[in-house]
Amino acid sequence: IAAAGAVYYLFGATGDLARRKLFPALFSLYKEGKLAEDFAVVGLARRPRTNDEFRADVYESINEFCRYKQGDDETWKKFADHFVYMSLDINNLDGFRELNNLTEELDARFDIPGNRLFYLALSPELFGPVSLNLRDGGLLESKGWNRLVIEKPFGYDLQSARELNEQLSHVFKEEEIFRIDHYLGKEMVQNIEVIRFANAFFEPLWNNKHIANVQITLSETVGVEERGGYYDKSGALRDMVQNHLLQMLAMIAMEPPSRLHPEDIRDEKVKVFRSLRPFANSEEVRRDVIRGQYSEGSSRDKRLNGYRQEDSVNPESKTETYFAARVFADNFRWAGVPFYIRTGKRLPVKTTEIVIEFKNVPDNILFARRHDLSPNLLVIRVNPMEGIYIKINAKKPGVDNTVQPVSMEFCQSCQVGLNTPEAYERLIYDAARGESTYFTRWDEVAQAWSFVDRIAEAWREDNESLQFYPAGSWGPEQADKLLAEDGFHWWPVN
Ligand code: BG6
Repeated sequence: IAAAGAVYYLFGATGDLARRKLFPALFSLYKEGKLAEDFAVVGLARRPRTNDEFRADVYESINEFCRYKQGDDETWKKFADHFVYMSLDINNLDGFRELNNLTEELDARFDIPGNRLFYLALSPELFGPVSLNLRDGGLLESKGWNRLVIEKPFGYDLQSARELNEQLSHVFKEEEIFRIDHYLGKEMVQNIEVIRFANAFFEPLWNNKHIANVQITLSETVGVEERGGYYDKSGALRDMVQNHLLQMLAMIAMEPPSRLHPEDIRDEKVKVFRSLRPFANSEEVRRDVIRGQYSEGSSRDKRLNGYRQEDSVNPESKTETYFAARVFADNFRWAGVPFYIRTGKRLPVKTTEIVIEFKNVPDNILFARRHDLSPNLLVIRVNPMEGIYIKINAKKPGVDNTVQPVSMEFCQSCQVGLNTPEAYERLIYDAARGESTYFTRWDEVAQAWSFVDRIAEAWREDNESLQFYPAGSWGPEQADKLLAEDGFHWWPVN
């Protein structure tokens, strides 16, 4: 079903996100009929470009990154015709007035019913000024809807996030603001709810009586690439934990919502954030949180720079490129169950996996030595492989009563012909339909910041907790000790 026709304004149209994700997503939506003919895309950035040059950029990006290729010339030509470019200085209100005039032309040309979707792929300090200029330039006065889509980071801490939210709220209502956390657009993250709530054998066990611990790993092989300037101020805590990791944790830990309505789901997630046990002081942070930075190392015989040698990074930087923590949700369901979360750059594999480790069955006479039994696991593979598998115990064939762990696997991404939509396709399509479930609401963001701020605060005064790990390794050894203290270990990722 096609989303309602709209003008899409892409601020930051010459940037990396537009090229890698947004243009390809729009093309896939078009190919699948989710964008009908009543739409237009206005690329906006400071540098001058003609419409033809802009369309050539879009063409290249689709060629390189889209799961659909341009295919027949006709489709591409029709699609490209909806793209125009305008050079805009975002501090100049006249430019916005001009943009408003251009919009009227586009409305008439493509028969668009006055709907506007403003996508800000910009740095967050520009969100406020752009919003004000959109209003003052008359762009919010049409008869259709207005929606603002913004990328992370939403602030640097709770205080700055509040200020940012305050600025936006002068112009947009909360229900018009779509804050992207692209992990919520991933197929398997959305699948968590279905796996949990649509299966008789998981939900009854989904609590502290049966679950020993939960492990969430989000590992990357890349270093900071060209983003040293941004990353050195952000670090893994703000770049990955405040958003992606805590959002996945909330999806695992939340109570079933009373209705599958966006606000009910988001209410349940907020309750999880509220129940996260805050770190009371820096000793607790030092005990439960590991902070690492990659030093020189190697991967597949290739020498890799240490973080401090990367471009635009302070050579004495204390920024963490690795984070691991033991976290508790203090509520009835999860009392006493540790959630171990970790993320890092320059680790050996790129993967996102969630492991639910179940408690062992009680000792019984048939399999007397309980410690021989492996715990049951449910593993949700988010990316790059998508699927789930469970580990159960079964009898080893031919041998009396010897038990061995075996796995049962559902590999979604192995299905022939399956061409899973990218996160950004889903999210753009959802925003265009006003479906906000998989966007983060302000109170979620605020709660997540207040949890994370305590850690950042403790680190500010602490010069000793930073651990170095060789690029290409699994991070500081302390992260293993964290689990060993509780009698657990990280399950190897696949
Ligand atoms: C982004 C972070 O939000 O997520 C990046 O800013 C990170 O640092 C990226 O590399 C990972 O996303 P994905 O979808 O490639 O796992």
